[in-house]
Amino acid sequence: MVRLCSQCNPKPFVGKSQICEPSVSLINALLCRRIVLYLPDVHFFPEAMSIAQDKLIRIREQVQSHLDRVDRVRVTPEQRSELEARIKDNLARENAVLVAHYYTSPEVQALAEATGGCVSDSLEMARFGRDHPAETLIVAGVRFMGETAKILTPDKRVLMPDLEATCSLDLGCPADEFAAFCDAHPDREVVVYANTSAAVKARADWVVTSSIALDVAEHLAEQDKKIIWAPDRHLGDYVRRMTGADILMWDGACIVHEEFKARGIEQLKQVHPEAGVLVHPESPASVVEIADYVGSTTQIIKAAQRLPHETFIVATDHGIFFKLQQAAPDKHFIIAPTAGEGATCRSCANCPWMAMNDLERLATVFDRPDNEVFVAAAVATDAMRPLDRMLAFAAELNTGVVGRA
Ligand code: 13P
Ligand code: SF4
Repeated sequence: MVRLCSQCNPKPFVGKSQICEPSVSLINALLCRRIVLYLPDVHFFPEAMSIAQDKLIRIREQVQSHLDRVDRVRVTPEQRSELEARIKDNLARENAVLVAHYYTSPEVQALAEATGGCVSDSLEMARFGRDHPAETLIVAGVRFMGETAKILTPDKRVLMPDLEATCSLDLGCPADEFAAFCDAHPDREVVVYANTSAAVKARADWVVTSSIALDVAEHLAEQDKKIIWAPDRHLGDYVRRMTGADILMWDGACIVHEEFKARGIEQLKQVHPEAGVLVHPESPASVVEIADYVGSTTQIIKAAQRLPHETFIVATDHGIFFKLQQAAPDKHFIIAPTAGEGATCRSCANCPWMAMNDLERLATVFDRPDNEVFVAAAVATDAMRPLDRMLAFAAELNTGVVGRA
């Protein structure tokens, strides 16, 4: 089955090479919201990822059903205004606040801002949700963000537009396999990325987001602590190179960032030699190497404001452009390529799970029985420890009590 890309090319696509260069995993072609190529027998996930075949099939089915729904829910401008009005009324009536990630659509981010909510990275989403007085948090992001909100504020109701919105890092780190990995290395401090399930966090000593990953690793390295790092191998590799920490790595990756191509960025630089390159550390080392700045989503936005370049090539999810353009309205942003030469679609840099946070699902978020986030009490208690530790560490970083000089 082949579907058409309605946005960038009206012609049918007939082969993988027209979508992505051969080295690109087919999952990316499958996940691209504009082009869907369905090849049932192909091994479409990088072999290195620790995901069982049945799980891969489930991911593919989830993404496919999401894509089917996305196609159905295209809304007219009038419908969009109606949905936005309904969402605003619902939030006010239910004493709820909308907490959105930078990777959600511009409409969702604008709504969060217009209704007194927040648009931010995963660390700030956690902090904002915890500190806000609303009784209900509507988390527009992916599952781990909803779970984090629930763990930090168990008395609040946490709803998500779609609980199926997950993350390849979370999927690639099953709690039982991870526990066995940790048990096999009891001498190591366990550091997990926020992009993990509550059960994986419950097994950790530390949770980190990309905003404070370097600081935490450096803090541990200073104490000669050996580390287990999970699940993102690119972020872990970057942290290891920057801090020299002794890291034993879990083998996971973000399907969006992993597809950025150093060669594609270099070619784009030939057209825009003046451009700076901003890179999220979930990207491969070859991409990180050519960056002018590497950082979390919030750090990328700040770098775009601070650095002197007028043009930037940006290697992270395209959703961040809404805030980038707001933060630096006079600057020009270009999405980094994920596809190689000859590709028709130049960039698939959109997280398919973040895209599940559409207006229609937000408008019905209070009406459905299947979208409240729950975390088992015992798991939440154990996961709270490393999460609290991260927030306390982040607070100390802000006040200069700990951190890199
Ligand atoms: P941030 O922690 O920078 O928001 O990133 C979360 C994420 O999912 C990146 O892909
Ligand atoms: Fe996960 Fe990557 Fe999507 Fe972020 S962009 S939520 S890391 S799949």
